[in-house]
Formats: sequence, C-alpha cells, structure tokens
Amino acid sequence: MNPDYTDKNPALGALYGDHIQTVMARHDHALEQAGASHAVIYSGNPKLAFLDDYHHPFKANPHFVSWAPLTALPFSYIVYTPGSTPVLIYYQPHDYWHVVPGAPGGYWTSQFDVRVVHSTEDIAAHLPEDREKCIAIGEFADEALAFGIERVNPTTAVNILHFARGVKTEYELAVMRLAAERGATGHVAAEAAFRAGKSEFDIHRAYCKAVSHTDPELPYGNIIALNEHGAVLHYTDLDRDVPGAIRSFLIDAGAQVHGYASDITRTYSNGDQRFQDLIDRMDAMELEIIGRVQAGIDYRELHVGTHKTLATLLVDAELAIGDPETLLETGVTSAFFPHGLGHLLGIQVHDVGGHQENEAGTIIDPPSGHPFLRLTRALEEDMVLTIEPGLYVIDMLLENLRGTPAENHVNWDTVDWLRPYGGVRVEDDIRVMANGQENLTRDAFARL
Ligand code: GLY
Ligand code: MN
Ligand code: MN
Repeated sequence: MNPDYTDKNPALGALYGDHIQTVMARHDHALEQAGASHAVIYSGNPKLAFLDDYHHPFKANPHFVSWAPLTALPFSYIVYTPGSTPVLIYYQPHDYWHVVPGAPGGYWTSQFDVRVVHSTEDIAAHLPEDREKCIAIGEFADEALAFGIERVNPTTAVNILHFARGVKTEYELAVMRLAAERGATGHVAAEAAFRAGKSEFDIHRAYCKAVSHTDPELPYGNIIALNEHGAVLHYTDLDRDVPGAIRSFLIDAGAQVHGYASDITRTYSNGDQRFQDLIDRMDAMELEIIGRVQAGIDYRELHVGTHKTLATLLVDAELAIGDPETLLETGVTSAFFPHGLGHLLGIQVHDVGGHQENEAGTIIDPPSGHPFLRLTRALEEDMVLTIEPGLYVIDMLLENLRGTPAENHVNWDTVDWLRPYGGVRVEDDIRVMANGQENLTRDAFARL
C-alpha cells in the first residue's frame, strides 16, 4: 500500500470538480487561439538507458498531471474537445513482467469518459479522426505515438497553458497543503536522525521512510548536507560516513501529493550558539520577506530588496562591513547569496511560466546581475512560490572578490569561522493572497 495523503482531505473530490472546469476553460482558450479543435495530451513513456534494456524512472508530462492525479500512467492520453466530456485513454497493458496500472478509480473518474485499452494499437480508434484539427501536447520520443498529429506542442497554446498554471485552483491549493504536510513530516524525522548523529545517507533514509517516498517519487533529489556540504547549493552526494565532528545540517527536501510538490529547507546547528544565532537571524529575515508577499508585488523587487536586507544581516553578523548599497554594488551580497530568492511551485518544483509577462509568452528577464532568478513576473492571488534566502561560504565566489573594491567589505576572519558550517538557507512555500499570504510550510509544521 502506497499512502497518498488524500484521505486527509475528504473535500478533494468536490474541489476537483471545479478544478477540471478551470482546466477545461484554459484549454478552450488555448485551442481557440491556436486555431484547433481538439487537444491530445500524452502522459509520456519511460525512456531506456543508453545501450541498455532498463528504463529511467518515469516522469509524467506535467500537462497530463494538471488534468488528473495520474503520475504513473505511461502511454495514456487525454483527448479534449470543447463542449464534450474529456476522454481518458487509460493504458493498462497485458504485461506479466511489471505491475500494471489498476482499474481506474478515485474521485477524478467521474469527470472523464474513461476508455481502458490493453494495447497501443487500440489507442488510435479513440482519437479524433480529423487529426489536422488536433494539437498534441507532450514528449513524443517516437513520432508514431503522436498518431499523425502534426502540430505538437504549438507555442501559442503552450504559452497560454503555462502562464495560466502560475495561478492555482482551490483543488491545487488543497493538494499542495497536503504536500507541505508530507514534507514537514519528513523534516521532523530528518532532524531527529541528525540529532541522533546519523550520516547523510541515513538521514535521507529516515526522511524517505517518514514521507513514504522512494527516491524517484521525491519531487527532486534530497539535499541532505552536513557541515561544509551545506555550501554546495545542489549537494546530493549522501555521504555514507558520519563525519568526525558534526557541526551543522542543511536539508532541502520536499514531498509530493497527486503530482504536486513541496520544497522546504531548514538549517540546524549541533549546539554551536554562534551558528544558531546566524540561523535565527536568517529565519527572522525570511519571515520578514514573506511578510512582503502579496498580489501586485514585483518579485524582482522582492529579490533585490532581499539583497538589501541581507546586507544589513551580514553586517550585524560581522561577515561584512559597509552600507547596504555598497555591499550590493560591489557584489558582496551576491557572493554570499548567489541564487534566486525563489520560484513558482506546483506540478514542477521549478514550475513553468515564471518568466512570462503574459500568455503570449513575452519574457521578463531577471534583473542585471541576478541571472538565476526564476520568477520575474508580478505576483497574483493564488500563485504558490518559494521564499528561500540563503548565505554560504562558497570560496569560488568569495575569492573572486579579492583584489576588487569588495575585498575590504568582507570580514575574512568571520568567513573562516563560518566555512566549516557550510551555510544557512530557510525555505517556505507561500500562497499569494490579495493582501498578504498563506505560509503552507509553517502551517504544515504547526499541524503536526
Ligand atoms: N530544491 C530546489 C530549490 O529549492 O529550488
Ligand atoms: Mn526552491
Ligand atoms: Mn528547495
């Protein structure tokens, strides 16, 4: 039995009915703009490793998942024609080598005309005959799987759908609250394993057990970093050995429910009060930035504003010397905090549409000097995004400041002190509201 957390919210079925209406309306609009009559959305298929007969883990097309919570249904299709009940071509192969998808079941089934097929040869009969009026959305590694549809992933339609996905439905918000809760459960177990002196590998295993995810089910590879490993932004090595001295723990790990992700980071000190004080400052700063989130805010300004706030924190923590403007201009804050403040979150951890100004696909570039910012558009009600400020000792970046005007604005002795701890990041998942925000992550921890 693989628990999926949905029993925790009996209202999901009712909310899903409204969700599917929204998804259909988005596709009505996308089809009209693309001058097409039918959307054929492919779930995808597992891919073989090079020169091998084993497959990489299957990852479903996020467009398919936006219709139905079916994350493990390869070779299947949703066919949508405006005004008609969507058809789900549900592929259930005759296969005695693998576990095949069970009979369709769940609150989502009533919204579809479900057609179970047992062979890929039976799929074509369920597709619209006028293929020239179809658009296909999905990854078609094999052309035959597009069944003669020539318009594959047309930009007009895809841009409309990606832009729309930035704003979540009530159903999606409910599912994401559950994903936050699932992730928080794992974080509590991981902290306990850290306090018990476990290795990164064993902390990871404690996390996976608590959230009941296999590695491929995690929304992204867990970042479980002891000591200086915390300075590697995407550290995923999972050291099997317990280090000689355990000083710090940075964990960036999420969970998923029905294909929607949480993305949560916490940092812990193993008793050192000075490092704990730095964590507390970052935690307070993160909450203060979250307090600025509301509809209408330009996320680029939030990101640059964070650099100003971080500059003050760096001075208070004796890591830097100077006024905030100087620390920004000379690149000191960017050397300590080289990644973006956050990103849209949803079916994809770094959800699509973060750079789109509109549904036509006009791109808003990140501000100059901040190339890694994944979210540049103005915030709207019911977007879900992360706020994840960090500060790290990344020697590769700090060394670049030597011989520049920035050099004298860094307190190198404090940098030496911090290096063995790696760094600090605090990350929460936030729903944008008209005049404020909902903190999915902190609310989830509070519910445990
Ligand atoms: N876990 C990846 C990120 O925080 O963006
Ligand atoms: Mn993130
Ligand atoms: Mn993260």
